[in-house]
Amino acid sequence: MTQASASPGTGGAPGYDVEAVRKDFPALDRLVHGDRPLVYLDSAATSQKPRAVLEAVEDFYLRHNANVHRGVHTLAEEATGLYEQARDSVARFINAPDRDTVVFTKNSTEAINLVAFTMMLADPPYRVGPGDEILVTEMEHHSNLVPWQLLAQRTGARLRWLGITDSGRLDLSRLDELLTPATTIVAVVHVSNILGTINPVTEIARRAHEVGALVLVDASQSAPHLPLDVSTLGADLVAFTGHKMCAPTGIGVLWGRREVLEALPPFLGGGEMIDTVTMESATYAALPHKYEAGTPPIAEAIGLGAAVTYLTGVGMPAIAAHEHQVTAYALGALAELPGLRIIGPSTPVDRGSAVSFVMDGIHPHDVGQLLDFAGVAVRVGHHCARPVCSRFGLPSTTRASFGLYTTTGEVDALVAGLRRVREVFG
Ligand code: ALA
Repeated sequence: MTQASASPGTGGAPGYDVEAVRKDFPALDRLVHGDRPLVYLDSAATSQKPRAVLEAVEDFYLRHNANVHRGVHTLAEEATGLYEQARDSVARFINAPDRDTVVFTKNSTEAINLVAFTMMLADPPYRVGPGDEILVTEMEHHSNLVPWQLLAQRTGARLRWLGITDSGRLDLSRLDELLTPATTIVAVVHVSNILGTINPVTEIARRAHEVGALVLVDASQSAPHLPLDVSTLGADLVAFTGHKMCAPTGIGVLWGRREVLEALPPFLGGGEMIDTVTMESATYAALPHKYEAGTPPIAEAIGLGAAVTYLTGVGMPAIAAHEHQVTAYALGALAELPGLRIIGPSTPVDRGSAVSFVMDGIHPHDVGQLLDFAGVAVRVGHHCARPVCSRFGLPSTTRASFGLYTTTGEVDALVAGLRRVREVFG
């Protein structure tokens, strides 16, 4: 496994050996469109996977494949051990005080839906019903918006939201007004997938707790990029997904305070989440199994365990510092391109590594396609955060997003590609 070392890298933070990190990711060596080196700037959509993760998944299927928590034979015990070790690794990665409060889900979306759905059926004080309020922000990914819309529609609760300032920050000026004794849950994104903004979730949580609300943080775009410590974050519930943090698709995490997870009712019913079952009813397993009905994504969880071990080996503070430098470099370089407007904070302060922009008179889809011909992979569209685009009066943006393996040379390739786009469109 690669360790951040003292040898020079290609841009980024001093002492971070990005070239050594890149060697761990086979896909980064690819050529596209014949002879173009791949410049992968779409890590906010999904990260590339290091060899350590691919090998962990392969090793599981080659040597240990069996169902978990269901067998007494050797492979079943090995599979169960690997699956539960993955939970231990994730608990350490997020500094969870209690490993049983790490629930494996399919992704962030399922983790958030688990909470939104079970709050409809919970006992007070966690039950959401008519007259209750749900506070979200205009900056949410659809995965942390639509589940709350559904909850409001199904229960008669009222959905309220914090707006976004022109510079792409959360507008906290109405926070005190929007937080009321009726607020049952505040659901807020830690780092915006489209604007890149890092939100002051600890401060928001402190104020939400003053009115007795629960706080859920969507950490999908922070867990891969920043040290994430749930014991100090201030949230009651945290959701994130594996595939953006070097793990396979199909595995995510819901972490919650034990008291909250114990109080919420089960989400999906089925095998493994029960204690006893009769024809009439069932009692439920203890955490975390109460929320893990059915055969879980075993290889995917083991892959996530390998991913967080890999990220820890490189070092999350080092990754955060490296990405910060690359983002600062990109913001500076993009600001020099005529007719390009960054949508989101234009400085690297309290900012993650997703950078959205629009180019005067050129549709983002054209930008994305021309960049692809040059080997540069970016995402175009509304990035599953359509209200953010609407807030800025845009149908879509182009987004470049960076990861632990991104170099300043790749940012140069992006900028050269954008100059070419401008030449083509005049
Ligand atoms: N949520 C992912 C993104 O922002 C898919 O691109």
